[in-house]
Amino acid sequence: MGVVDSTTHSLAKLINSPFEFLYRFLQQILGYIFSPNPPPPNANLSRPKIAVIGAGITGVSSAAHCVGHGFEVTIFEAGSRKALGGIWAKVNNTSGLQIHSIMYRFFPSVSWSGGYPNRQSIVGAVEKLWRQYRLDERTKFDTKVEKVYKDRQGRWIINDESNGRFDGILACVGTCGDPKWPHMPGQDKYEGQIHHSSQLDGKDAHGKKVLVIGGGASAVEALEFTVHENAAQTSVLSRSEKWIIPRNPFIDVLLALNIFGAETPLSFIPENILRLFFYRDLKDLAPPKNSGKGLFTETPMVNNDVLEQIRSGNAKWLRGDIVRFEPTGIVFKHRAQGVPKNGPGREELLPADMVILATGYTRPSLAFLPDDCFEEYYSPPNWYLQVFPTKRE
Ligand SMILES: Cc1cc2nc3c(=O)[nH]c(=O)nc-3n(C[C@H](O)[C@H](O)[C@H](O)COP(=O)(O)OP(=O)(O)OC[C@H]3O[C@@H](n4cnc5c(N)ncnc54)[C@H](O)[C@@H]3O)c2cc1C
Ligand SMILES: NC(=O)c1ccc[n+]([C@@H]2O[C@H](COP(=O)([O-])OP(=O)(O)OC[C@H]3O[C@@H](n4cnc5c(N)ncnc54)[C@H](OP(=O)(O)O)[C@@H]3O)[C@@H](O)[C@H]2O)c1
Repeated sequence: MGVVDSTTHSLAKLINSPFEFLYRFLQQILGYIFSPNPPPPNANLSRPKIAVIGAGITGVSSAAHCVGHGFEVTIFEAGSRKALGGIWAKVNNTSGLQIHSIMYRFFPSVSWSGGYPNRQSIVGAVEKLWRQYRLDERTKFDTKVEKVYKDRQGRWIINDESNGRFDGILACVGTCGDPKWPHMPGQDKYEGQIHHSSQLDGKDAHGKKVLVIGGGASAVEALEFTVHENAAQTSVLSRSEKWIIPRNPFIDVLLALNIFGAETPLSFIPENILRLFFYRDLKDLAPPKNSGKGLFTETPMVNNDVLEQIRSGNAKWLRGDIVRFEPTGIVFKHRAQGVPKNGPGREELLPADMVILATGYTRPSLAFLPDDCFEEYYSPPNWYLQVFPTKRE
């Protein structure tokens, strides 16, 4: 695009969508001020060498900061080249950010064109950063880190000496590893299809009765998928309550401004406001008062549609426990609000042509790190306390 075209385009944006224009302008300013300069080609970076483990958004953005400040890095990624982007490279094409992108700026120069980028845009942003900071020359794919240890000079060796020696390690393995496939009683006898929520691309739910197991963000995404596919009926089987908050950047930023990052004596205020004005007639789905499940105790789900789908009768959100699979569906024990997991309830056979396991992911192992990384008070997330070692070697 020439200069005239680009100026005309910017003016048109300013007039037609002033908020989007301002948002993008602000992102450019932030990027300009806070992004370090990428290293020049074939640069010999003289500061200490860092091994970055994992090529998701955390690994790539950390590595970009390192090289931008003169540290040499090598990224070690267990997956193939297709794994660049981490978990976002593995999930459904229909996945996207639930939270507004204003709260998902993982590197200063990352600039979003819309509020809720999809999976492809997120992987694209990671890939752009990776190339811009010449990390393509510094990444070893298909290299799972199994162990790290120190040589006599205290330099880190990753797996074996052929990978070189490093002055520091950044473990960026994420929290979502392989899909969790719990095995439930009677599952082998079930005659319908079972899929994990992260593997729904190309699956056909049209006209089917679908049961979604799990009550987290993936269950919400699975529900959106089945509604989009015109499934005959979708029921989410949730054994515990989690908070759902509106998809509204203003409200979400306000909630994120809780500087304590945890429950406070005042948390009842936003909780009651949500019950009253967001859940309304569906208050029963929110975590009950005094249940210990406050708004800031775990990550809430961010969605507007799910409550509307329930109100319109397209979907049901059922609280209770899975008793067993039968050939035609699942025997489910409905529990009243406040009754603990596996407490008393009413059993019912729920028919299903398809079951989606929205049961989450296994946590990637950090067992490759030496044992002293897990000493009391210094285990993750308190590793920053070790940045300036308190022990003499
Ligand atoms: C569908 C979905 C949607 C999400 N949406 C949001 C959202 O809206 N907002 C939000 O904040 N979060 C969201 N998340 C959470 C998500 O995990 C983070 O946002 C973020 O992508 C995590 O990035 P990461 O780089 O820390 O980890 P990952 O993306 O998981 O990357 C870790 C990488 O480390 C590699 N690795 C692991 N172990 C090793 C090893 N031993 N050796 C070498 N490599 C290794 C893995 O192969 C992987 O590529 C979502 C998650 C999912 C599944
Ligand atoms: N677009 C998005 O923003 C988006 C989309 C998907 C995921 N994510 C993120 O990815 C991470 C994982 O989310 P997730 O929803 O996949 O997993 P999750 O938050 O771990 O939720 C898993 C759900 O499955 C239930 N469950 C697990 N095993 C079960 C079993 N054997 N029987 C019955 N229920 C079972 C859990 O119940 P209990 O809670 O009782 O254990 C929980 O409700 C989260 O950080 C989430 O925020 C974000």
